[in-house]
Amino acid sequence: MKLKKFLASILSLAMVLSLAACGGDSGEDAASGDGADGGEQSITLGFAQVGSESEWRTANTDNIKASAEEAGITLQFSDAQQKQENQIKAIRSFIASDVDVISFCPIVETGWDTVLQEAKDAGIPVVLVDRGVTADPSLYVTHIFADALKEGGNAFNWIDEYMTSEGKTPRAGGDQFQVAILEGTVGSSVAADRLQGFLDAMDASENSAKYNVLCSQTGEYTRAKGMEVMESFLKSDGDKIDILFSCNGDMALGAIQAIEAAGLKPGEDIVIVSIDAAKGEFNAMIEGKMNCAVEHTPNFGPTLMETAKKIVAGEEVPATIELEEGIYPADIAEQELPNRTY
Ligand code: AHR
Repeated sequence: MKLKKFLASILSLAMVLSLAACGGDSGEDAASGDGADGGEQSITLGFAQVGSESEWRTANTDNIKASAEEAGITLQFSDAQQKQENQIKAIRSFIASDVDVISFCPIVETGWDTVLQEAKDAGIPVVLVDRGVTADPSLYVTHIFADALKEGGNAFNWIDEYMTSEGKTPRAGGDQFQVAILEGTVGSSVAADRLQGFLDAMDASENSAKYNVLCSQTGEYTRAKGMEVMESFLKSDGDKIDILFSCNGDMALGAIQAIEAAGLKPGEDIVIVSIDAAKGEFNAMIEGKMNCAVEHTPNFGPTLMETAKKIVAGEEVPATIELEEGIYPADIAEQELPNRTY
């Protein structure tokens, strides 16, 4: 609870007690105001979103908005359009309008110390969602996240098992599979972690000598950029690439267009694994154009609202809250699609 609201509650409780002692209104009636009796307190949450770069992001925005409504939390929502300075401006405007809790998905990892300190000085708790920051953890209350390192590792391990069990051989001959990687937003925690998790799993594999990263570049988590970068990969190495690891779903879908335009069969000539597991990837898998989607859930909303309520009620929350996720290979895509929420 913000310091001034906490003091206000103490003050109103003291007033109630003194009224009761003076034989005024009964304590029960007088205390039935906004949260002073331990009942639901009205909460305003300021949420600074990254932008609308992907199918995943749109689903995340929808989930945050719907969850706030369902939880009876007033949401102040701001779209930073992929610019850190816009996110910082939004956080400052949440501080100025004295919201109860601030939450944001940090576009990049660094550069948050000053604004987080401003929120702390104003007594407004901050909850990070999805991506992380490198700032001092005492500047925010908790981080609700899905483990991007694990996702990258899951992507490589699935590929490794698939290449082995399918008896795949490198398209250009030799004894190494050539890997292309579409990375995410430069400077974002999830982009760095997914890549690291993938490369660590490759190093740790007993088959590590069978893989070579031929090309790796950011596709900025967008379909258009994923297509453009894949086109350039194909121009120089089109006859060699065996595997595409795409650090999100939209870039994979853009890359599929580039692969088809180059006269190759996505999902066959080039094995494709992406992270997100949104409906677009499921449809591509059902069409045989992609091989596996590793889940990164956008459904942070319910946990965020529950956490905001706990914080405002003065309850302890853990320093990190991890969400569970799955792995969806193409052979179960059709059966799973009706269960997908995004
Ligand atoms: O931060 C999560 C990532 O951002 C998602 O994987 C990607 O699709 C989005 O744009």
